[in-house]
Amino acid sequence: MSLLKIAKLGSPILRKTAEPVTSEECQKIEFQRFIDDMIETMEKLDGLGLAAPQVFQSKQLVVLKSQGNFRYPGAPDFPLLILLNPKLTDLSDQMIEGWEGCLSVDNLRGKVKRHAKIKVSGFDRNMNPLSFDAEGFLAVVLQHETDHLLGKVFLDRMDDFSTLTHLAEFERHWISPIETV
Ligand code: NI
Repeated sequence: MSLLKIAKLGSPILRKTAEPVTSEECQKIEFQRFIDDMIETMEKLDGLGLAAPQVFQSKQLVVLKSQGNFRYPGAPDFPLLILLNPKLTDLSDQMIEGWEGCLSVDNLRGKVKRHAKIKVSGFDRNMNPLSFDAEGFLAVVLQHETDHLLGKVFLDRMDDFSTLTHLAEFERHWISPIETV
């Protein structure tokens, strides 16, 4: 297991559309090891999720987990989720707004509106099909992570930059890291 290097804003790979993972690729030991490294990297850096382009692999793979997260105190927990080739559909018209940050966008937070409910389909790490509904906080994190596979970061989803704040100022001036309306 090893800690992977994070691509930071400005790295061209963060702006590319990621390639789908093939069944053949998925069976390789190197690929399975890469998934484990992504999980370890996410956990070590206190991320709520990590997408493969963030660690310099332009592949449709995301990992997500929320468990007593240090960078996002008060964030609701959800178990580890590994998703290959994810597709989000049935995005509800109802939107929720919350603070987002990103391991590729150092030291910044900003308010982003996301769909409150989504349908998710994709594959698990063994290429078994997965399909489920997600809402609230999990839906938000899923939208943030799958955006990385489309070459988007949360800044692209902000209505305007009036809430964009450095982390130190955020902790000084804003009440709660997870705030939904
Ligand atoms: Ni991110």
